[in-house]
Parts: sequence; C-alpha cells; structure tokens
Amino acid sequence: MHTSLTCAACHHPVSVHQLQNLCPQCQKPLLASYDLAALRDTFTPETVRQRTHRSMWKFWDVLPVEHIGQAVSLGEGQTPLLRCEPRGAFARFRRLFVKDESANPTGSFKARGMSAAVTRAVQLGVKAIALPSAGNAAGAATYYAAKAGLPCYLFMPQDTPPANIIESVVGGAHVHLVNGLISDCGKLVRRGCEEFGWFDLSTLKEPFRIEGKKTMGYELPFDLASERGDHALKLPDCIIYPAGGGTGLIGMWKAFHEMEQLGWIGPERPRMVLVQADTCAPIVRAFETGANHAPLFPNAATVASGLRVPAAIGDFMMLRVLRESGGTAVTVTDAELMQGVSELSRQQGIYACPEGGAVWKAAEKLVASGWLNPSDEIVMFNTGSGLKYNHLASVSDLPVLDHHDPECLQQARLA
Ligand SMILES: Cc1ncc(COP(=O)(O)O)c(C=O)c1O
Ligand SMILES: [Zn+2]
Repeated sequence: MHTSLTCAACHHPVSVHQLQNLCPQCQKPLLASYDLAALRDTFTPETVRQRTHRSMWKFWDVLPVEHIGQAVSLGEGQTPLLRCEPRGAFARFRRLFVKDESANPTGSFKARGMSAAVTRAVQLGVKAIALPSAGNAAGAATYYAAKAGLPCYLFMPQDTPPANIIESVVGGAHVHLVNGLISDCGKLVRRGCEEFGWFDLSTLKEPFRIEGKKTMGYELPFDLASERGDHALKLPDCIIYPAGGGTGLIGMWKAFHEMEQLGWIGPERPRMVLVQADTCAPIVRAFETGANHAPLFPNAATVASGLRVPAAIGDFMMLRVLRESGGTAVTVTDAELMQGVSELSRQQGIYACPEGGAVWKAAEKLVASGWLNPSDEIVMFNTGSGLKYNHLASVSDLPVLDHHDPECLQQARLA
C-alpha cells in the first residue's frame, strides 16, 4: 500500500501507520493519497476487468490494503447502473441512469465506506469503534464490525427510522438513542472516544470511509462502457447526488482525480449536482450565497434522515466540487421527495429511499429550467433501499377481502 495521509485544508502530512482522525494542526479532514505513478503499469482498466471479485475491492490497489485478503468485505459495491425508461418528465432522455446503491449489504452506499474504514481499523489494532449516525451508516457499521469481531457503539437521533435501529440491535451493536440531532450524537461519540478509548468512525473524521465511497466514482465509467458495449472509459455529463455529510460526492470527485493521474481518463469532468431537503439545506444556501463554508442550518428536519445534517465538516470540500465542476445545488421539499420515491417505484421499478426520491425530483426541476438537456448523459444516485423507510408509507386503509364472499373478486377488480 503506497498510501499517505494529508490534510485537505492545510496539507499537513500525517502518518498513515497509526490511527488518525482530524488534522492535528487545523482539525479538518485528512485525505489518503497513493503513489499513482508507481501503480500506472500494474493497475490498468484491463487488470480491473480481468479481476473476478464481486465487490468494490476490485479496486484494492487504491484502497487501504496490501492485498485483497485483508479486506473486511460483505460483497459491497459493483451495484447496477440502471437505464431509465423514458417516462414522465424524462420522456425525451435516452441516456438517463440510476446507480442503484440499494443493492449493497445493509441496503445502502454506506456499506462501501464502512468496509474500507473497518478494514483499516482492524489492521491498526482498534479494539472498538463508535459513530454517530442518521441511520444507514449505523446499520452498515454494525455488520462490518460483526464481520470483524469488533464491538460497535452507535449514537443515533431518537427519531431515526425504526429499520435502522432494529438492524443495528439485531446485529449486536451497542445502540444508544439520543434526544438531539446527529451533531449532538457526534459530541457524545467524541467524549466516549476520549474516555473509553473507542475509535471515532464519524464521516470525514476518519480518513478511509471516503476511500470506500470513492469506488462509486471508479465503477461509473466501467458501468457506462458496458452499457455502450465498448471499452472506452468516459464519465457522464452530469451526476446528481443527495448530500448530508458529503462523503459520497467528495469521494467520487477524488476518484476522478486519481483516475486521471492513472491515465485512465482525461481532464473532462461531470457537472456535479448536490441535492438537499429545503428544511435542511446548509450547503445549497452556502452555494447560493457564494460562501466557502456553511453555517449551522437552524431547526433541521426532513423525513430523508440521511440528509438531516445541519453542519458538515466537509462543507468547504463539497462547495469546491460543485464550483470546480460547473455544477449546482438544488433543494426539494419533503412532499416532493416522497413523490419522487413513488415515481421511481412506479415508473422505473426501483423502490428508492427518500434521498433517491430527492435526486429524482431535483433532476425534474433541472429539466424544467433547461439546465439538463435530453442529449446529456446523466447518472442519478439512489443511495439506499426504500425498505428502510417503510414507516413513511401508510397502507392501513387497504380493504381486506372476505374469501367466503362469492363477490369478493368482483370487488377486487373494481378497487
Ligand atoms: C440513504 C442516504 N443517502 C444519502 C446520505 C447522505 O450521505 P453523505 O453523508 O455521505 O452525504 C445518507 C447519509 O446518511 C443516506 O443514508
Ligand atoms: Zn490541517
């Protein structure tokens, strides 16, 4: 592993051979980098294509391992890129895709980050991990910790979706519900780490979760090449992504930079679009005002629990990605994003999470404004499974048929 760690803000280098959280000098996130020049001959698109691993560890050369056998893996990544049916607002779009992250272990893209972070934590001798979570990260951490045999301490807002709480309890994590937001949970984790020696796996406060998530970016040009039926590695014109802490977005941007250094792609980049709920939109507001940092968003609330992040430590990195890429930032209401879930389900056959529904409706707005073009190649992310959010749907008014009643089928046909 030719890896080093450097601060994303002040570029201070730190050792990759010991546990690290934030930059010791400025308290900003640390990023891993690799000796990509040394990898150019051995780590090629052809090598990747020949590998038979059915996980994101196909890209192990740019992940924190010496060899693939070290990976704590449950088969994460290699998710399907689904071509959308030209329906509804997108009737004229022929190159519109959904990268469906619900196919991951524990049903969300969080699996990628946790696989990488737990892998590194195990190598560095961590005895217990702890993290705050909006829900999906908790589920993922639970199961990677279980696979690695590590205790896992979770702190989640008390109104976290029940599915996330249940899966974490079943998976043996120490689950703690908190009467506050994810930022309040983060403060408890920090204290617990100081007092009890847990390792803090908070997003971007640990340098390898982002490494796992960047594999979404590595997979995309391979997915698009197989869609086209050729071998040319090209990025799409536009990527639309739901952001809370922002690791997915920042991670993909990092992947594109690495792929260029490896000689796989040129300097062209997709326009990156960030989506948030209008009732918790710190990054969208900062983007609109031209700010480089986002102040805490007051009274943050949305049913898209993954987007309920009122303050993000990687705010400056997300804003940089949006601006460098010529992208934009969009809000949707909770009613709109739930409508998006329904449309993705009924028009595309994808039972999306509310965060995925938000992306769908944001894209529709960008079509209406003319920002997106029917000739564009667009990839939208559905970051998780709708099954985790069953509590948001009401089915209590469904009638129950009396199978003794000879008229019951007639009744069913008319309903
Ligand atoms: C389903 C889903 N989508 C999107 C997000 C936001 O991800 P990030 O915090 O990496 O921006 C989350 C985070 O919890 C999530 O669970
Ligand atoms: Zn620093």
